[in-house]
Amino acid sequence: MCGIMGYSGLQPPVPLLVSGLERLEYRGYDSSGVAFFDDFGLISVVRAVGKVSVLKEEVKDLAGHPGAAIGHIRWATHGGVKLENAHPHQSGPIVLVHNGIIENEQVLRIRLKGEGILFQSETDSEVLSHLVRLEYEKDRNFPEAVRRALGHVEGSYALAILCQNDPADLVVARNGPPLILGLGEGETFAASDIPAFLHFTRQVFSMENSTIALIRHDEVRVGSLDQTVESWKTPVSRTISWDPVFAEKGAYRHFMEKEIFESPRAMMDTLADRVSFGNILPEIARKAHEKPPAVAFVACGTSWHAALLGRSFLEQAGIPAFVEIASEFRYRRLLLPPGSWVIGISQSGETADTLGALEASKRAGFFTLGISNVPGSSLEREADLCLLTHAGPEIGVASTKAFQAQVALLMMLALALSPAPPREDLLESLIRSPHRLELFLESVPPESLDGRVERLRLSSLVMFAGRGLDYPLALEGALKFKEITYRPADGYPGGELKHGPIALIEPGVTVVAPMVDRSLRAKEISNLREIRARGGYVMAIGPLIGKDGHEIWYDDRIELPDDPPWSGIYQAAGILQLLAYRVASALGNDVDQPRNLAKSVTVE
Ligand code: G6P
Repeated sequence: MCGIMGYSGLQPPVPLLVSGLERLEYRGYDSSGVAFFDDFGLISVVRAVGKVSVLKEEVKDLAGHPGAAIGHIRWATHGGVKLENAHPHQSGPIVLVHNGIIENEQVLRIRLKGEGILFQSETDSEVLSHLVRLEYEKDRNFPEAVRRALGHVEGSYALAILCQNDPADLVVARNGPPLILGLGEGETFAASDIPAFLHFTRQVFSMENSTIALIRHDEVRVGSLDQTVESWKTPVSRTISWDPVFAEKGAYRHFMEKEIFESPRAMMDTLADRVSFGNILPEIARKAHEKPPAVAFVACGTSWHAALLGRSFLEQAGIPAFVEIASEFRYRRLLLPPGSWVIGISQSGETADTLGALEASKRAGFFTLGISNVPGSSLEREADLCLLTHAGPEIGVASTKAFQAQVALLMMLALALSPAPPREDLLESLIRSPHRLELFLESVPPESLDGRVERLRLSSLVMFAGRGLDYPLALEGALKFKEITYRPADGYPGGELKHGPIALIEPGVTVVAPMVDRSLRAKEISNLREIRARGGYVMAIGPLIGKDGHEIWYDDRIELPDDPPWSGIYQAAGILQLLAYRVASALGNDVDQPRNLAKSVTVE
């Protein structure tokens, strides 16, 4: 969905922008570019089609002059993937980068063409550069020109802008997509996400919608778009606890692999100080006294799968729960019982569909609860109450550790909302589950997966099936698999296979079956027998229980420890993530930045 970065300070800006863009690359990788002042005081723009590595090569001998500078990575929406559509866009003294969509672009473009402007690109962003330039020419007041120009614009934007005549000044503005300021000593960063500048500062300020900021080194003034620059104020930052090590690959080949192995820590940090007997999720304690008559979860992708598990946990706690795809829910009639809660789950906290669904729920008078992994995200700010997962920044586009952290948080939520005191065995299982996951991941020798990875790679089709708690796991296994291997894969409720999908079964097809839900195990086993009877290959993931071993209902089984209920969910998820990761790596795919995907989708 594009990522932007801005800087004002005393460091040579080019290397710093490039490394920031590398950390934002999960947001798009069609093209990238930077703009900075050269030693003659002129703005220099360098752009490249493809990944940041291409740009990095082009600017490897450039440092840029200290002052203001901007950078961008693009996920194409308006206009194809070509150099002229790459950002930054320049109009006279104004150079800018943009994340978002300008909805009245056509009207503005026609108007500007009428005023004699020649367009260089097909992007909506270029329109903004001309608008700012025309305003700038009126009084040569840079921040005011940006503010006035934005008065003509409908749509969403995170912007970082330079002006040839004010070399230390960076103007940024936000309406929709995220924009976070990092406030350092003698310098300030602006970026779509925190990892871009985490190495330099942990003091952050999240820009609100419809706000603008003027930044000169460490002087920052922020105001609303309807206030003139004189009344803008110094923002109050907050310190975040994220460790910069999270944003490094370390000894791992890919962020995804590293993040799979960070899942136990993500869960541990999410559970810390939030779960003990009689004191679960203290943040929600007051609100939890008014038990909701029903709960609706809204989410997308992996977060939606976590929500499906959340529904089971809440149902076990006696609370009616529904799960909705956010992009559908937001346009439906919201016929929930009065007093219901709507819970939006989003790793990034910036997914437009989830935010839209929550906004619609809020308008309809429902209490909205957010579950997000990013402090200061739009979800955190816009929900009535937000619970943070503490997975640390997730860089790989395919979500891994954030899923486990979301599931742990949802387990706590169910325990917190349950009218009965929490069952001691569940509480205990939850507290121990990060450690159990850690032990389990360490106990899987990488070579024990080699044959399995090869089978999946060579299968004519890979399907995922499960019942009860195993169904969301099957969906998540299939999503991971298709996202990064580019092979078709679907997850099915085991009992539904016979109603259609079983027609796909033939020799060469592999069905991956997470088997951690004991309540439906016997039924799941008979579904898998039906697969085997038709020549399908069953790869089960689960512990061996009771007499299971006497009847062979699988071709291969990845052994999970026979741990108490709930622990298996995390272990099975870890294996499903690892299998997808290993197959995609074997295929030579770009695991961290799979084609066509972006980590947070900030457009509808
Ligand atoms: C994108 C990503 C998915 C992710 C989904 C929801 O589509 O490609 O991997 O699960 O967004 O993201 P969120 O940040 O809202 O959890």
